[in-house]
Amino acid sequence: MILSWRISKEGFNPSSIELDGSRFLIANGYMGYRGTLEEFGKNELVACTVAGVYDRYDDKWRELVNVPNGLFVKVYYNNTLLSPMTFQDCAHIYGLDLKDAYYFRNTKFFVDKEKWIRIKTKRFASSTDYHLLCLEYSITANFDCEIEIETGIDCDIWEINGPHFKEMTFQNLDGIYVTHLITNEGKNLVVAETADHLVNFIDEECLRLYVRKSKVKLARDKEFKFYKYMCVTHSLEFENSFDEAIKRIIEAKNLGFDSLFEKHRSKWQERWSICDISIDGDEKATLALRFSMYHLLSIAPYHSEKLSIPARGLSGQMYKGAIFWDTEIFMLPFFSYTLPDVARNIVMYRVHTLDGARRKAKEYGYEGAFYAWESQETGDDACSLFNVTDVITQRPIRTYFRDKQIHISGDVVYGFFTYYNATGDFSIFLEGAAEAVFECAKFYYSYAYYKPLKDRFEILDVTGPDEYHERINNNAYTNRIAKFTFEKAIWLYDILKEKYPNILQEIDSKTCIFQYIEKIKETEQKIFLQKPNEEGIIEQFDGYLKLEDIEVEKLKEKMLHPYEYLGGGNGLATQTQVIKQADVVVLLNLFESEYEKEILKANWEYYNRRTEHGSTLSYSMYGLLAAKLGKLKDAYEYFLKTALIDLEGNYKQYVGNLYIGGTHPAANGGAWMAAVFGFGGIRSEETKVEIEPHLPTHWKSLKFNLTIHGNLFEFEISNNKILIKSTRLKDSKYKTYRIVANKREFIHKIGQLLEINLKGE
Ligand code: BGC
Repeated sequence: MILSWRISKEGFNPSSIELDGSRFLIANGYMGYRGTLEEFGKNELVACTVAGVYDRYDDKWRELVNVPNGLFVKVYYNNTLLSPMTFQDCAHIYGLDLKDAYYFRNTKFFVDKEKWIRIKTKRFASSTDYHLLCLEYSITANFDCEIEIETGIDCDIWEINGPHFKEMTFQNLDGIYVTHLITNEGKNLVVAETADHLVNFIDEECLRLYVRKSKVKLARDKEFKFYKYMCVTHSLEFENSFDEAIKRIIEAKNLGFDSLFEKHRSKWQERWSICDISIDGDEKATLALRFSMYHLLSIAPYHSEKLSIPARGLSGQMYKGAIFWDTEIFMLPFFSYTLPDVARNIVMYRVHTLDGARRKAKEYGYEGAFYAWESQETGDDACSLFNVTDVITQRPIRTYFRDKQIHISGDVVYGFFTYYNATGDFSIFLEGAAEAVFECAKFYYSYAYYKPLKDRFEILDVTGPDEYHERINNNAYTNRIAKFTFEKAIWLYDILKEKYPNILQEIDSKTCIFQYIEKIKETEQKIFLQKPNEEGIIEQFDGYLKLEDIEVEKLKEKMLHPYEYLGGGNGLATQTQVIKQADVVVLLNLFESEYEKEILKANWEYYNRRTEHGSTLSYSMYGLLAAKLGKLKDAYEYFLKTALIDLEGNYKQYVGNLYIGGTHPAANGGAWMAAVFGFGGIRSEETKVEIEPHLPTHWKSLKFNLTIHGNLFEFEISNNKILIKSTRLKDSKYKTYRIVANKREFIHKIGQLLEINLKGE
């Protein structure tokens, strides 16, 4: 069922447990807790995933840890477990409230003829104390009865590459249950849990399940409620995680669920007051956008600049909890234009992981910084050389994501400038980002080959965004992002030289940039960029256009297995023009102003027909470009596909044998871009804002807010009018902006209302 701020499902279908777990996730940037029922366990993929705490077991993949479930509750009536999983005769509804960011369920069990017992719960991941998860549990029966409640910490954890805890001990401190965990890598974690309003406990310590049981008499129609608080702390943050956890859990209990919830709610209201988007005339799209933003806002690193956002958010250990280019290219625009402080944390994560990128460059014999394709907390690469298993032969496939997807360093640089462009905050460059840009430029310089006969630099043996074609030469996207990196290195060098010579000197002591700058300038001038051919097509890489031109569906007919990997050495797509995901189309979106509309159009058409959209990153890029081009039907279709990905669950769950389910924050961020930059037609550069809207015909208006260079703008765009209101935010030094709407220019003073009539003057 869809209401504009609520998503709920009715009934129980065991086959949707996995998708619902991701879909109905609650999270607060510190941890994510899957949308599973309180009585569920490891087989139902219950997980509380902690951001930034990684561990490796044996020689398995290093991944984020999942901690024991302190919100675990089971209720029995007549020795029968009340759960829709085992109890057929029940009415079950569950879902998410996006506005106040909580999960709810309401299950009525018809235990005998007219008799029923109802369980209602509500839980949230506190946005004011990130260590806390809070649960309200209410039980009502329409007859007098006795029930048994079992609650505690379930330490039987769902893990993909575990077990991650070499030690797990348990303590009961006057009703506060505490689990001490030590990872294989020696990190300490504490999970503490307590319940309120439950008495007459009988303590029971079963294997990996620390529970207490309580018998409760329910009076007819009288609601019985209790609360649970779960707190997670770890040694990466605190010297004494144990004391911190106990302190916080006592505080939580003293404050109580309602006031904790009130604080949480008002924080979310604050977030929505900036981030919300509403579309008059399209409730489905509004909800899908809100849902996408809910997920982004849930998993953002509010509290630390040493964290970023993993490709599957905090919905589990999928993709090793690693950070990919997804964050900079797909998610960062949203944060930069709505919550710049959070965007700054995301950007600074790459500064803190620069040394890992330096190590990787060195490992491969290059200079500078080669960022990790799959980055964890140190910036070292978690990507394995055999990242996919062939489902037919069961043999590992050598993939070249780690060693050849060198566009990642340029993506990181692009991210710095997305943030800088939206905020005007130069301080990131003084605090390490300039050093990172120089190191990335050095990396590309050392990677590029000079071809004397052609008098140009080429970038050979790479993998572009389209992973089905590995080890190719002169990928159009990679070459352009490398050039971008050179351009920005030169720009920064000049500014630092003029305004911050001491800082430049200091950076030079770490990067030797003085020695490199001339070489970087030369490479920037002479790097080869793929130009459109006679038909206007930009060849994705050398020789791409000569590959077999086959339709995606025809190619797929040749598949021997539904999860078969199409890339790799023998993959079906490798020798054809079928591509996994947007590649040239990413280039065109990121560097749109450099191409004529006809070129954008021709390439959109050409590559659209050849794209499998085997990655959920793909739709938004096609949607975004289509919207900018006014191809409204296609734009709307792609926009909905990306915005509905996690709601509808239309995505690949497996590649080879690898489980890749979970949430899709890059698609969520892409949906925001398609709406704001695509349909809204916003482009901003410093204090100039261009607007060229292309609203789908059934949209009466599109409303959104952006913070641009420290001031808040409210846009309301309809087919014949644009309304712009602005508010000065603290510290902003900018008072006037240039607004260019459909080529007409206006000077807008902060605080004034600007009304632009799109039909005539
Ligand atoms: C895509 C990459 C993406 C990764 C994580 C892969 O399937 O091809 O572009 O970064 O998933 O989302």
